[in-house]
Amino acid sequence: MGQRMFLFGIVVATLLIILVKECRTDHVSPCQGECEAVKCPAHCNCKKRSIKCNDRNLTYIPRIPCDIKHLTLAGSNIQILSVNETSNLSCSFETLTLLNLRDCKITFFVGDVFTNLTQLKYLDLSFNKIVSYKEKNIRSIQRALGSLNSAPLRTLKLDRLLIHEGVNEIFKYFEGRHLTYLSMRENEIIEIEDIVFKNFTKLIHLDLYRNWINKLNLSSGMRKLELFNLSHNQINIFPPKFCKTGKSSYTSLKNLDLSWNQIIVPFSRNWNCLNTLKTLNLSRNDIEYIAENHGFQNLSSLRTLILSEMRTTLRRIRNEAFRCDSLQHLDLSGNGLNFEDPRQVDKDIFNYLPRLTSLDVSDNSIRTVGAQKLTNLSSLETLIMKNVNLRLLPDDFLANFPNLTYLDLYRNKIEQFSANAFRNLTKLMLLNISDNLVSNFPVPPFPPATLYSLESFDFAYNYFECDCDIFELQNWIREVLNDPNKKNIFSRYPDEYRCYKPQSMYHTPLNEAKPTHCTNVRYELILCIISSAIICLLFAVLLVVAYVYRWEIKFLCHKMRQRRRTEYRPLTYTFEYNTYVAYAEKDSAWVIHDLLKELEEARYNIYIRDRYSVPGVARCDEIVDNIYKSKTVILVLSKNFAACQWCSYQLNVAQARAVKLGPHFIIPVLLEGIDSKHMKKSVQHLFRSSKPIEWARQSTKNRLFWSELKGALDEEITNGFEDTGYQDCDVEDISICK
Ligand SMILES: *[C@@H]1O[C@H](CO)[C@@H](O)[C@H](O)[C@H]1NC(C)=O
Ligand SMILES: *[C@@H]1O[C@H](CO)[C@@H](O)[C@H](O)[C@H]1NC(C)=O
Ligand SMILES: *[C@@H]1O[C@H](CO)[C@@H](O)[C@H](O)[C@H]1NC(C)=O
Ligand SMILES: *[C@@H]1O[C@H](CO)[C@@H](O)[C@H](O)[C@H]1NC(C)=O
Ligand SMILES: *[C@@H]1O[C@H](CO)[C@@H](O)[C@H](O)[C@H]1NC(C)=O
Ligand SMILES: *[C@@H]1O[C@H](CO)[C@@H](O)[C@H](O)[C@H]1NC(C)=O
Ligand SMILES: *[C@@H]1O[C@H](CO)[C@@H](O)[C@H](O)[C@H]1NC(C)=O
Ligand SMILES: *[C@@H]1O[C@H](CO)[C@@H](O)[C@H](O)[C@H]1NC(C)=O
Ligand SMILES: *[C@@H]1O[C@H](CO)[C@@H](O)[C@H](O)[C@H]1NC(C)=O
Ligand SMILES: *[C@@H]1O[C@H](CO)[C@@H](O)[C@H](O)[C@H]1NC(C)=O
Ligand SMILES: *[C@@H]1O[C@H](CO)[C@@H](O)[C@H](O)[C@H]1NC(C)=O
Ligand SMILES: *[C@@H]1O[C@H](CO)[C@@H](O)[C@H](O)[C@H]1NC(C)=O
Repeated sequence: MGQRMFLFGIVVATLLIILVKECRTDHVSPCQGECEAVKCPAHCNCKKRSIKCNDRNLTYIPRIPCDIKHLTLAGSNIQILSVNETSNLSCSFETLTLLNLRDCKITFFVGDVFTNLTQLKYLDLSFNKIVSYKEKNIRSIQRALGSLNSAPLRTLKLDRLLIHEGVNEIFKYFEGRHLTYLSMRENEIIEIEDIVFKNFTKLIHLDLYRNWINKLNLSSGMRKLELFNLSHNQINIFPPKFCKTGKSSYTSLKNLDLSWNQIIVPFSRNWNCLNTLKTLNLSRNDIEYIAENHGFQNLSSLRTLILSEMRTTLRRIRNEAFRCDSLQHLDLSGNGLNFEDPRQVDKDIFNYLPRLTSLDVSDNSIRTVGAQKLTNLSSLETLIMKNVNLRLLPDDFLANFPNLTYLDLYRNKIEQFSANAFRNLTKLMLLNISDNLVSNFPVPPFPPATLYSLESFDFAYNYFECDCDIFELQNWIREVLNDPNKKNIFSRYPDEYRCYKPQSMYHTPLNEAKPTHCTNVRYELILCIISSAIICLLFAVLLVVAYVYRWEIKFLCHKMRQRRRTEYRPLTYTFEYNTYVAYAEKDSAWVIHDLLKELEEARYNIYIRDRYSVPGVARCDEIVDNIYKSKTVILVLSKNFAACQWCSYQLNVAQARAVKLGPHFIIPVLLEGIDSKHMKKSVQHLFRSSKPIEWARQSTKNRLFWSELKGALDEEITNGFEDTGYQDCDVEDISICK
C-alpha cells in the first residue's frame, strides 16, 4: 500500500513539476519583472506590436515595452548611439525585426550597438551623418555593422550617409549572410568593386542610385542579384563589363538601370552572359550612334529596352541595330531624331523586332514619311507618338497594327483625319488625340467597332471650329454619353473642350456652343431638296403635257396671233375669189370634201376648176383669168401635183402673178410628203421661199392646219392690195396652151 502511495506520490509530483515548469516557462517571457511595467512611451504611437515615434525630435531611444516587432524613430535627434541607448530596447531584444533610425542625426556609434537585436531583419540607417572623412567614424560604423552578424538581416539601407570611399572598409566585419536588399543611394561613392559584396551571397537588389561612380570592377559577380540600380552615376564612354571572358557571374540579373550616366557606346561585348536580363535602362546617357553589330541580340531574354532622352546626342541608328527576337518594349522617346532622314534613322530599324508590342517614339520628328518605318510592327499593342510633328493620320497607317490597345498622339499637328483611319482597330482601349490642330472632327470619329472597345478618348485642346457642323459632334457626344458603359469615356470633358473659331465663339465650351445662323441647317437642306425636286417634277410634267398637246398649243398660239381678225371681211370689188385652188386631178376628192367644205363653211369664196370651168373656154385662158380674179392661190402639193402638167402650168401662172402681188399670194399646202427628186425646180424654189402648211390626218393637227390656212388667206385679204389688171400680165411660158 505504502509502495502504491509512494508511486502515486511520484506521479503527482512529476505532474506538478511539469505543470510548474509549464507555468514557469509561461512566465519566463521578456515581459518579466521590470519590463512588465514599461508602457507605450510618451510622444509615440503604439499599435499592436509596432511603435512609431516619427519626427518627435527625441534625443534618446525611449524605453520600449516587451514583445515589440517594429520600431520607427525616424526624424529623431539621437546624435551618438551607444550601448546605453540601445539598452532601452532590452525588453524587445528578441522580438524586434524592424528598426528605423532614418534621419536621427547620428554621427557616431559607440560599441557593438546591435549585438542583442538577434531577430532584426530590417535596418534603416539612412540620412545620418555617420561617415565623414574621419578614420574614427569609419571604424565606428564598421563595428556597428559587425554587431549585426547574429541577426538574420535582410534589408539594409545606408542611403545618404556621406559614404565617400572605402566601401569595403564599412563592411569589413559585416557578414551579411542573409542580406537580400542593400541600398547605398545618394552617397558619394566614386569607385566600387563588387568583391565588396562577395559575402552577401543572397543579395537580390543592389541600389547604388545617385552616387559619383565612374569606376566599376564587376569581376567577382553576384549570382543572385536581380536588380542593379546604377542610375545617376558618372559611368562614362563604355558601359560596365559584366562578363569576364564569357564566364557568367551575374547569372540572375534581370533589371539593369544605367540611366543618367555618360555612356557613349550603347552596349558591351562583355554583356553576352547577361542572358537573364529583361530590362535595360540606358535612358539619359550620351549615346551617339547605335551601330549595326547586333549589340542587343545576345541579350536573349531582353524584353524592355529604354534608349530615351539622349540629350540630343543620338544622331544615327543603323538598320539592324535593334535586332532582338525577344524585345517587347522599346522606348526611343525624347531623342529629337529625324525619322524622315535616312542618314539618321535607317529604313529597316524596326524590321527585326518580331515580338515588339510597345513602342514609344515621342519627342522625335517622325511625320508621315518616318511613320512608314513603323509599319512592319504588326504586333504593336501600345504606340506612343507624342509630339512627333505628325500632320496627317493616313487612312492606311493604323491598319498595320490590328492589336493596338493604347494609342497616344498627344501634341501633334494633325489637322484632320477620317474615321477610316481607325477602321481595323477593334481592340483600342485608350486613344489620345489631345492638343492637336483638328478643327472639324469627323462624326463619328471612328467606326462602331472601335467605339465599342474604347474606354478612354481624349481629344481635349483641339482647335474646334464651332460652326454649323458642331451640332453633329455635340449630338454624337451626347449619344455616346447616354450609353452607361461609356459614361466616362471622354477624358477632361467638357472643361478642356473649347471652341477656337469663329472669333465670336472663342473659348466657349464645346458643349455650349450654339452657332445662331444655322439653327435649321438640316431643315433648310431638306426644304431645298424637296422644292427642287418638286420643280423638276413639274417641269417634267409640263414637258410631257406640252408634247402630248403640242398641236393644240401650236393651234392656240396661232389663234392668238390671228386674234385681230374677228370677223369675215368681204372681198373688195377687184377680186372675185378669195382663193384659187390649184391641184392635181387625183387629189380632187380631198379638195372637194375637205378643203372646199371647210373654207366655204367659213364663207370664203373659192375657185376650183371642177366646179366653175366654163365649157368652151380654152383651158389656159380659164386658168389665167381665174388666177387673176383670185386674191390668193392655194397650191395643193402632192406627188400627184408634181406629176401633173396642168399643175405646173397653174404654178407658173401663180408665180408670175406673185411677182406683182408678193410672196403671200401663193399659199402652198402640202397634202403629203414629196421626194425632192420628183420636184420640179419651181416647186423646190417654192418650198424654200415659203413654208408649206402641212396636212395631217390627225384631227388635232387638222385644226391647226385650217387655222393656219385661214390665217394665210386672211393675211392676203387684209393687206388691202388693189389691182385690177391682168392686162399687165406678162406670162411668157404659156406654150402648154397650144
Ligand atoms: C530638436 O532638438 C534640438 C535640441 O534638443 C533643438 O536644437 C532643435 O531645434 C530641435 N528641432 C526641432 C525641429 O524641434
Ligand atoms: C531610456 O528611456 C527613458 C524614457 O523612456 C529615458 O528617460 C532615458 O533617458 C533613456 N535612457 C537612455 C540611456 O537613453
Ligand atoms: C546585451 O545583453 C547582455 C545581457 O542580456 C548585456 O550584458 C549586454 O551589455 C548587452 N549588450 C549590449 C550591447 O546591449
Ligand atoms: C551609460 O549610462 C550610465 C548611467 O546611466 C553612465 O554612467 C555612462 O556614462 C553611460 N555611458 C555612455 C557611453 O554614455
Ligand atoms: C567573407 O567570407 C570569407 C570566406 O567565405 C571569410 O573568410 C571572410 O572573413 C568573410 N568576410 C567577412 C567580412 O565576413
Ligand atoms: C577587379 O577586381 C579584381 C579582384 O579584386 C582584381 O583582380 C582586378 O585586377 C580588378 N580589375 C581592375 C581593372 O581593377
Ligand atoms: C533606380 O532608382 C531610381 C530612383 O529611385 C528609380 O527611379 C528607378 O526606377 C530605379 N531603377 C530600377 C530599375 O528600379
Ligand atoms: C529608365 O530611366 C529613366 C530615367 O531615370 C526613368 O525615367 C524611367 O522610368 C526608367 N524606366 C524604367 C522602365 O525603369
Ligand atoms: C553573340 O554571341 C555569339 C555566340 O556566343 C557570338 O559569336 C557573337 O559575337 C555575340 N555577338 C556579339 C555582338 O557580341
Ligand atoms: C517589312 O519587312 C519585310 C521583310 O523583312 C520587308 O521586305 C519590307 O520591306 C518591310 N517593310 C517596310 C515598310 O519596311
Ligand atoms: C494579335 O493578338 C492575338 C491574340 O493576342 C494574336 O493571336 C495575334 O497573333 C496578334 N496579331 C498580331 C498581328 O500580332
Ligand atoms: C484589317 O485586318 C485584317 C486582318 O486582321 C486584314 O485582312 C485587312 O486587310 C485589314 N484591313 C485593312 C483596311 O487594312
